[in-house]
Amino acid sequence: MDHTGAVDALLQEERVFRPLPQIVIEANVNPQEYRMALEKAEQDVLSYWEDAAHELDWFKKWDAVLDDSKAPQYTWFPGAKCNIVYNALDRHIDSPNKNKLALIWEGEPGDQRKYTYYELYREVNRFANALRSLGIGRGDHVVLYMPLLPEVTIAMLAVAKIGAVHTLVYGGYSAKVLRDRLRDVGAKLLVTADGFYRNGKVINLKHIVDEALSGADAGGVESCVVVHRANVEAEMHEPRDLWYADLVRRESPESPTEVLNTDDPLFILYSSGTTGTPKGIVHSHGGYMVGVNRTLNWVFDIKPTDIFWCTADAGWITGHSYVVYGPLIAGTTTVMYEGSALYPQADRLWDVVDRYGVTILYTAPTLIRMLMRYGTQYPRQKDLSTLRLLGTVGEPCNPEAWVWLYKNIGHSECPIMDTWWQTESGMILISPLPLSLLKPGSVNRPIPGIDADVVDAQGQPVPAGKGGFLVLRQPWPGMMRGIHGAPDALREDYWERIPGGVYCAGDVARKDADGYFWIQGRADEVMNIAGHRIGTAEVESALVSHKAVTEAAVIGVPDSIKGEVAKAFVVLAEEWDADGASLDDLVRALRAHVRAELGSVAEIKTIEPRASLPRTPSGKILRRLLRAEELGEDPGDMPSLVQDDDA
Ligand code: PRX
Repeated sequence: MDHTGAVDALLQEERVFRPLPQIVIEANVNPQEYRMALEKAEQDVLSYWEDAAHELDWFKKWDAVLDDSKAPQYTWFPGAKCNIVYNALDRHIDSPNKNKLALIWEGEPGDQRKYTYYELYREVNRFANALRSLGIGRGDHVVLYMPLLPEVTIAMLAVAKIGAVHTLVYGGYSAKVLRDRLRDVGAKLLVTADGFYRNGKVINLKHIVDEALSGADAGGVESCVVVHRANVEAEMHEPRDLWYADLVRRESPESPTEVLNTDDPLFILYSSGTTGTPKGIVHSHGGYMVGVNRTLNWVFDIKPTDIFWCTADAGWITGHSYVVYGPLIAGTTTVMYEGSALYPQADRLWDVVDRYGVTILYTAPTLIRMLMRYGTQYPRQKDLSTLRLLGTVGEPCNPEAWVWLYKNIGHSECPIMDTWWQTESGMILISPLPLSLLKPGSVNRPIPGIDADVVDAQGQPVPAGKGGFLVLRQPWPGMMRGIHGAPDALREDYWERIPGGVYCAGDVARKDADGYFWIQGRADEVMNIAGHRIGTAEVESALVSHKAVTEAAVIGVPDSIKGEVAKAFVVLAEEWDADGASLDDLVRALRAHVRAELGSVAEIKTIEPRASLPRTPSGKILRRLLRAEELGEDPGDMPSLVQDDDA
């Protein structure tokens, strides 16, 4: 590749990248303000976060900044009354933002829709009224299983506006996963679309929805609202199914915003953990809105004329915090693109940046690595000069991808914000700011107000350069309220994992002599495939639900594009070939089976039959041993939260 020599030179000669003086001078937080923020956060972290809360509008201010009497069930801004949607929309209608573009949406075929803040406000109000007319109110649960359409933003805001709780299920999940989520949250309503465009094809989403709702175990869904997007055949089951357009047509564009408590739930978002069942992570209005607003403004340095594009799907936490809520609270213009980055060819991202004059691009290392394969021909054909800042999230950004992005997309002038955070954290926790010295591959330092460290299993800080567990010593406003239906999980799975009353993030990291953090990967049995968290246990239970498989062990192995991919070891049932199938047929069938069970997000790269699997005397599968064998490593090299207790 033509950039290899330059990358090598940059990495060898100049390991630190310095932002241009212009960017530093004009940053929302300049070096002096940054130092003052760090000092203030060190001296009085609550007063620091209180300042951040004052940037937002509240119906009633708080009695205290933090209630830690039930720690780790922390309540931020107790006593306050608020609604995140008041901050994301209502307040802009009385400001100069009223007629500014809030959302620029582009469909994969090239169709476009644009909404000013006022137009978005009116659409949200119409749908909020429609939701009320369907009997949805405060505390009710609504599941959204939708492609990246403007209606996903509208539906999220409308649900939150009336005090109901949304759960997004990413469109790449299967009917079975959708059904599990509907049941787990007790959804009364489902919002979906007939279909969507992906790689030039139309995917029929309504078919999957019908399958999910056909089972007796789909919970108590009373209505299903369908957005007309792809003109595909959609069987409407009356009276359950309703077209979105019919529903909102007659509704008023005004609708009251529910006055909520700071800790009233805003959404539940599922994320994989170490068990077969993903956890429903609960976030609430007050602390979350303070966290996303502060981080978006400081890390991404939002200016009044910015065009901000975060390429995440709304179905992930990045979509919640930095496609929908953060940008709207900050009053910026946000871009949304429905389809594939490779359609009609591998220049779509650069084309969108060029045509809309995107100034800030926040994306995933997997996508960068994928686009790098096509060389620099595509970015060179587009005008990317509007870009001022870049960002990455979700997985380690390897220095080669970092430097490629910096040189070829950021014209060697745009600092890259490699942001570390999680579904649980709700907001960015460790990241550079535009003024920071950047080291490719490092997520830099904790942002002011965040107290992170790397410790050993006893909670003792490890020396610089040594790997350990990434922990947070203090609560932060965007933090989750807990796990839906599992009252003890917050304490047991996060705050009691490591001695010393710290939050254990589940990641292995090291800190260098400058205090920069380097994320090495998960410390638990969670894979990170293309930036998506998938539990090995989830994939294993999908595999053993196939009649040909008696035992399964799944590990993540490194991949040059996706960061990690899944490899499965399976013990086959004796009569697995009774129907005359070959091993190749079976492997294909198993792959398809896992896809049907979990969805396209859980793709297994390799499946290897084994006579038996290594286990501890008490029967736990030694995945660490399998991984070490696979990678030719010493099984003790990587700190792990999973105890091979009796190995
Ligand atoms: O392992 C870390 C990795 O992604 C995990 C969180 O995944 P999720 O809850 O799906 O949220 C992803 C989007 C915020 C973390 O525990 N991770 C996230 N950001 C980074 C990262 N690993 C390395 N570098 C990052 N910037």
